[in-house]
Amino acid sequence: MQRLKAGEAVSVRMNLNGHEVEGRAEPRLLLSDFLRHELGATGTHVGCEHGVCGACTVRIDGQMARACLTLAMQADGCRVETVEGLAPEPGRLSVLQDAMRRHFALQCGYCTPGILMSLDTLLGDEPDADEARILDVLGGHLCRCTGYRPIVDAALEAAAILRGETGDV
Ligand code: FES
Ligand code: FES
Repeated sequence: MQRLKAGEAVSVRMNLNGHEVEGRAEPRLLLSDFLRHELGATGTHVGCEHGVCGACTVRIDGQMARACLTLAMQADGCRVETVEGLAPEPGRLSVLQDAMRRHFALQCGYCTPGILMSLDTLLGDEPDADEARILDVLGGHLCRCTGYRPIVDAALEAAAILRGETGDV
């Protein structure tokens, strides 16, 4: 294994939201800081920095991950998805994002990127996810503003639209 001197940075490459990117990272640099400060992908938020609040949630190779508990070097060569990659095209929201907007499921929005990543993953993996499963997933996220009910309603509505049970409204 390559030995690094203190403070020495190495190249980290990843596919970020479909684009090949590269930056420099010291061995202890967190993925959350790498995304925000090295790559300029500031959609991923940082709250507690110890895995509790969920604000920093991203997908790595299709799996949900806390970017504040992941070293940038651990994501080298991986496919990383962040909230910036959810919209299908510029100026158009995803079904889930649009449902969140309609239900006023955010206020300050600090928690929202992480919640979107987790719920997007849930609805992709489990199209029939019910309220109990949505609450399970939201159990990994702290939101100080909404009381959660609008988020649950938005997720249920998005799930129904994605299953083709109701037209986009
Ligand atoms: S900032 Fe990562 S879980 Fe809170
Ligand atoms: S909308 Fe403010 S913390 Fe969730």
